[in-house]
Amino acid sequence: MRVATYATASRAAAAAAALVLKHLSRNPSLVLGLPTGNTPIPMYRALVRAYKRGRADFSRASTFNLDEFVGLGPDDAGSYRAFMNAQFFDHVNLPRGRANMPDGRAADWRREIARYERQIARAGGLDLVVLGVGTNGHLGFNEPGATLEAHTHRVALRPETRRDNAHLFRGQRRDVPAHAISMGIGTILTAKQVVLLATGTNKARVVARALTGPVTTWLPASLLQTHPDVVVVLDRDAAARLSKRIRRV
Ligand code: GLP
Repeated sequence: MRVATYATASRAAAAAAALVLKHLSRNPSLVLGLPTGNTPIPMYRALVRAYKRGRADFSRASTFNLDEFVGLGPDDAGSYRAFMNAQFFDHVNLPRGRANMPDGRAADWRREIARYERQIARAGGLDLVVLGVGTNGHLGFNEPGATLEAHTHRVALRPETRRDNAHLFRGQRRDVPAHAISMGIGTILTAKQVVLLATGTNKARVVARALTGPVTTWLPASLLQTHPDVVVVLDRDAAARLSKRIRRV
């Protein structure tokens, strides 16, 4: 695991974007796993800027988002599809047909989770996945628990997760859907490289536990310790609880 710490959140996001661009220039048909959340917004801005300046070409790439709320589609302002359209897909030349996300509106969620997993396999698996982390240690919507799911699955969201996502629903926690579809931890860990991006003081505790604590299903992000190629990109605030030996600035 390599840890890189930057002075500010925007520099950390720029570093994560630079990693994506490096992969894309080496492999224009990159299969890229993508996160939502506030943390990656400046990374998406940097990627869009790179595209507009002619420094990135997504025309042959494919993306797979980590998750989506059950019941929501692109027309719902709180959906992750709406988020991705607004932050990224609407501004780059990634063909829409290859901007994959679980369909929260699918009539049959069992078929949908099988379809999504098949689609990832058909693309050849993920080359690179960029992750954020929830304050409770979740990756995508793989919530802490006694067990974790390997593949794409339907998940009941924990109360703290619904609270953390309330900002997408005008601050109304009760409007946050109770369920989501999430890529599984096994699929995430089969990506050839993983980038974990975390910024802000509210992530310092979970980052320290994930990187230096025991590997446990009760903290899904700790499973990243088992992956052979992880780059952790932090700002100073998120790195605050790591020893100096680990957080390289
Ligand atoms: C949501 C997403 C996660 C994301 C997390 C952190 O719960 N499902 O993939 O990592 O939010 O969000 P933020 O970056 O806003 O802290």
